[in-house]
Parts: sequence; C-alpha cells; structure tokens
Amino acid sequence: MSKLEPGQRMTVEWRGKPVWIINRTEEMIERTKGFDSSRLADPDSLVEQQPDYIEGPMRSIKPEIGVIVGICTHLGCSPLYRPEPDAEGVGTDDWPGGFFCPCHGSRFDLAGRVFVNVPAPTNLEVPPYRFDSDVLITVG
Ligand code: FES
Repeated sequence: MSKLEPGQRMTVEWRGKPVWIINRTEEMIERTKGFDSSRLADPDSLVEQQPDYIEGPMRSIKPEIGVIVGICTHLGCSPLYRPEPDAEGVGTDDWPGGFFCPCHGSRFDLAGRVFVNVPAPTNLEVPPYRFDSDVLITVG
C-alpha cells in the first residue's frame, strides 16, 4: 500500500471478496471518533464482525489504516466510498464521511460502523490481517 495517499482507499481481493484498505487522515479519524454514537447501531462493535485483537472506535490495528470487507451486511452490494463530510446523496445532512450502499440506503462510517435505522443489520466485517511492514499488510 506504498502508493496509498492519505484519504485514499484501495481495493484488494481476499477469498473472492473485495477488501478495502483505507488510509485515514488525522482529520478523518477525529471526525469519526467525534460523531454522535447514538446514530450508530453498534458503536462498540459488540456484534462479532471483527477479530478479537481489533478494538477501539476505528476498528483497526493502526487508527489511520482501515481494513474492511467491502460487502454490505444487508444483501451484499458494494457500498460507495463517500469520505467527505458534505457528500451528497447519502440520505442525511449530518454525514461524518464513510460508506453509502446505493442498493437500499445503508450507511456506515469510516470505521465501517452501521448507522441506526438502515437495512444493514451489522457493522461491515473486518477481516483478519497483520502488518508485515509499514507498507505491507497480509489479509487472512
Ligand atoms: Fe446494502 Fe441492501 S445491500 S442496503
């Protein structure tokens, strides 16, 4: 992921699934952490959708690097990357940046945490992964 600029996302494949690698800026992290958690269905990720060594609001080993399976937990569409807080077409004026599923309108923040009152029942999945170096991640 040496070419992944701050704020960018890249997609790799793992077991036939798209996996997003997101290079979150400090501002994106603060925006995500500061979002009203009452708007999230499972802000503490109590429903198991991640390995047990993943913890914290950013749901990652390093806060700046997100690793998330890019499949909506409703019916399996691929949500769109809408990282900017003023993104249009996401169904809410108060958007913290994140992922929007165009199929039935589910919304997720930049940590893949699902909003309340959307069809998706759980947060997006975080796959098992590890850092082999600062620029190399192994998924699985
Ligand atoms: Fe994403 Fe239905 S598949 S909201």
